[in-house]
Amino acid sequence: MPEVAAMQIVRTVDDMRRACGELTQGGRILGFVPTMGALHDGHLSLVRRSRAECDATVASIFVNPTQFAANEDFAQYPRTFEEDCRMLEREGVAIVFAPTAEEMYPVGETTVVDPGEIGGRLDGASRPGHFTGVATVVAKLFHIVRPARAYFGQKDAMQVVILRNMVRDLNFQLEMIACPTVREVDGLAMSSRNRYLSAEERKQALSLYAALRAVAVLVADGEVNAAQLVDAAQTILAAEADVRIDYIALVDRETLLPVETAEPGALFAIAVWIGKTRLIDNWVVGEEL
Ligand code: PAJ
Repeated sequence: MPEVAAMQIVRTVDDMRRACGELTQGGRILGFVPTMGALHDGHLSLVRRSRAECDATVASIFVNPTQFAANEDFAQYPRTFEEDCRMLEREGVAIVFAPTAEEMYPVGETTVVDPGEIGGRLDGASRPGHFTGVATVVAKLFHIVRPARAYFGQKDAMQVVILRNMVRDLNFQLEMIACPTVREVDGLAMSSRNRYLSAEERKQALSLYAALRAVAVLVADGEVNAAQLVDAAQTILAAEADVRIDYIALVDRETLLPVETAEPGALFAIAVWIGKTRLIDNWVVGEEL
């Protein structure tokens, strides 16, 4: 066996099952990083963590149609497959699973994984059906890949909560690992959607990080009242001409229901529209920002 095997690109469910089965022979621990491509350092941080902790790492690139509503950006979502594969190969990924929509949904969408009431909170309130789409595709991917560990970004904090619930409720036999948000040097959370931003919008997008920082400073100074903290964030975001606030909320990290005080572990989450682009960011009280 060569030291570094060439990365395989697999297109079908059957081939993926077979290839992952071979990788896990002899009890080798398989790490899995699901993505929608248009990869950046945030995605690669998950791959690196998996590479460090597992015997083999597989990734998926699939722009999942069922998690986009009809009015959302499915058609425009950036697709940079060749470059993505080069990056993943450099990081030592063993297999990339890149199915077509027909391969994943041969009879359209039928059975789904419904995350329940929690799926309608925060982002779920503005994106009806989104988390059903996410939970369903990730359940399918978990069954196809059968990883021992799966890596997700804390940037999408609500996605982590929904998927942890799914793993618990449906008895998936794997460990969910949430990794810290990777930011640009100026603090903007990396996101595939940042490519949509004009130069002016990119400047205004910094207000998300500025708002979170202001909240973190207030909490460090002893302010724990949710309304005060939300107010402070709102003032900073509202100062930007093109920023439209979707929500600003301090919530319980597990239920995603509003809390009154910023106890350690509470989640301070923001979603905004900047022009046509929806961006999210968050801070877990007590953690590094
Ligand atoms: P996507 O947006 O491509 O993100 C793939 C993974 O990368 C997610 O776990 C996301 O939280 C993580 N990620 C994105 N930006 C990050 C950042 N700046 N720092 C750290 N991690 C980051 O999330 C999805 O795809 C899809 O919903 C998916 C789970 C693949 C299901 O279709």
